[in-house]
Amino acid sequence: MKIILTGATGMIGLEVLAQCIKSPSVTQIIVLIRKPLPESTSTSPKIRVIIHENFLSYPDSVLQQLSGAQACIWAQGVVKAKTCELQREINVTYPLTFIEAIRPYLRPELLSQQRKFNFIYISGLACERNMDRKLWVLSQARKIKGEMENHLIAQTGANTDTFAGYITRPGSVIPPNSKLMDVLGVLTSPIYPVMKVEELAVAMIDISLNGLLERSEDVKLEDYLTIMHDELQRRGREILKSGL
Ligand SMILES: NC(=O)c1ccc[n+]([C@@H]2O[C@H](COP(=O)([O-])OP(=O)(O)OC[C@H]3O[C@@H](n4cnc5c(N)ncnc54)[C@H](OP(=O)(O)O)[C@@H]3O)[C@@H](O)[C@H]2O)c1
Repeated sequence: MKIILTGATGMIGLEVLAQCIKSPSVTQIIVLIRKPLPESTSTSPKIRVIIHENFLSYPDSVLQQLSGAQACIWAQGVVKAKTCELQREINVTYPLTFIEAIRPYLRPELLSQQRKFNFIYISGLACERNMDRKLWVLSQARKIKGEMENHLIAQTGANTDTFAGYITRPGSVIPPNSKLMDVLGVLTSPIYPVMKVEELAVAMIDISLNGLLERSEDVKLEDYLTIMHDELQRRGREILKSGL
């Protein structure tokens, strides 16, 4: 499977990249980033890097290289930015621009192969989809991610034959080999749950490959597309035990 990855220089994206390299089911990883990967990043002939400086535009030369992709893990994003406008641009406009460019571009090949393009977005545990609701804590960040969740539900609803926009909602994600965070995680998990980055990474790769096979399609679309912290962690742990 050919998979597109953004945010590959970040904590979560780097782990997704490492797990994609390990996975025999992933044959090619197209890394879409604004600057080269750090030199310490694992190398593999499966990786193809596209330096893409403007996430508001997708020229044909870039789209052509994405042809044949079956999924995208969107690990790009920020918890906060200098301004609310910038935070929204990065967390909503960038992924939405990507979807609006790639969905029609891939549509003929998706229809002819009778498959969907799986898009996996990293939201957050307490994100809010109701823009009118008054929130007392981290209102801006939670509503910005919630707005993108609403777009993913709408995009999926309007294109059920070719597109599935999955929303992952992890709590805190612990970097690899972080002993301090292991301890902090135990202390803070009753208030805000934590999971290891490798658990999240393999769970997202599995969803890219297989969608949500075990989930009943009778539930509301927004519930069908949303994968909460506990389910991500359980799935991640099972995969790490048995292999992707
Ligand atoms: N870490 C957690 O505990 C946690 C929990 C829940 C959800 N999340 C979400 O998961 C996502 C990734 O988190 P992370 O912890 O891996 O973050 P991170 O380590 O800060 O990485 C962020 C990634 O986004 C890219 N990025 C940021 N601003 C950009 C811009 N203006 N243009 C292009 N690329 C940009 C960065 O690229 P550069 O290297 O080029 O800056 C980097 O690859 C975020 O959306 C975050 O909200 C994280």
